[in-house]
Amino acid sequence: MRILLTGGTGYIGSHTAIALIDAGHEVTLFDNFSNSKPAVLDRLREITGVTMDFYEADVTDAAALDRVLNERAFDGAIHFAAPKAVGESIARPLHYYKNGVAGTVALLQAMERHDVRNVVYSSSATVYGMSDDLPLQEDAPTEVINPYGRTKLMCEEILADLHQSDPRWNVIALRYFNPVGAHPSGLIGEDPQGVPANLMPFLAQVAVGRRPSLHIFGDDYPTPDGTGVRDYIHVLDLAEGHVAAVEHLQQSPGFDVINLGTGNGVSVLELVAAFEQVAGVPIPTEVVGRRPGDGPASWADASKAARILGWTATRDLDEMVADVWRWQSHNPDGYPD
Ligand code: UFG
Repeated sequence: MRILLTGGTGYIGSHTAIALIDAGHEVTLFDNFSNSKPAVLDRLREITGVTMDFYEADVTDAAALDRVLNERAFDGAIHFAAPKAVGESIARPLHYYKNGVAGTVALLQAMERHDVRNVVYSSSATVYGMSDDLPLQEDAPTEVINPYGRTKLMCEEILADLHQSDPRWNVIALRYFNPVGAHPSGLIGEDPQGVPANLMPFLAQVAVGRRPSLHIFGDDYPTPDGTGVRDYIHVLDLAEGHVAAVEHLQQSPGFDVINLGTGNGVSVLELVAAFEQVAGVPIPTEVVGRRPGDGPASWADASKAARILGWTATRDLDEMVADVWRWQSHNPDGYPD
């Protein structure tokens, strides 16, 4: 198959490009570098031996979408391109609705014009809100508490409406839990711009000496050690979940929403301890107040992905941490400009 990856040079997109190539598919990456760097393309060539087919463009740009869809024959698209920071979404809602929602509509319209109707959508466990009905199953009630979460839920609903209107549209929305890790080569990984908003990249920057200490956002949650519990999943497991989804769409058309997680909860303190052990460096920490909008615990019921896609995560926490550490210690300042 040839698959279009919007957001293809981003953290999850770049790892998925490798997984698709490893599975024998061809990829075209489409990205505006709003949250990634051109150096990713060199690194992908080094890892795969393949020069990536690449378009530098914005997913809200209908003419650019028409160009790529005219020039290549696609079997489907995986739509990653969207901004993804909760705090920024509260400060800049229009940026989120334009790029997250209108960008998705622009892509789907372009796909319709070119008769490509298989799409895998990058959704998030954020759509479960603060639900404490663990493990989280796909039919749990949805609840969104910030514009970022709303963009994800709105796009899922747009895709459901589209499939309803025309069953030729085949859709899988993948609800990611907490993606971490990096390719074992140490050549690609997560490279957030500015101060990382998420735990793992922040921890990695403390370990490498870029930041003095990790702030632990609350140790008084009703969890075994009082810190927040999440379902961390290796980005390569996540990438392989996308391959399984896009392959499934070819054989079994329909609309589905599927969790991608491990089903295991890990606390902030457990993650810090794992990092200290694997990296062999102490991580200074300081407990501060809870972060607004955070819940105590979230982990997936991952059985639907196993049942429908034949996919389960195989990489454990030590492997996630070792791969993050290799990436961060080889690239302390992230990708070169
Ligand atoms: N945490 C800290 N210190 C930090 C950062 C995070 O203690 O500097 C804690 C948080 O309180 C939480 C855990 O680490 O308990 C994980 O926090 P992240 O920010 O890494 O991840 P979240 O679970 O809050 O959010 C992630 C994504 C969201 C997505 C959500 C879906 O960042 O985009 O998962 O469940 F919506």
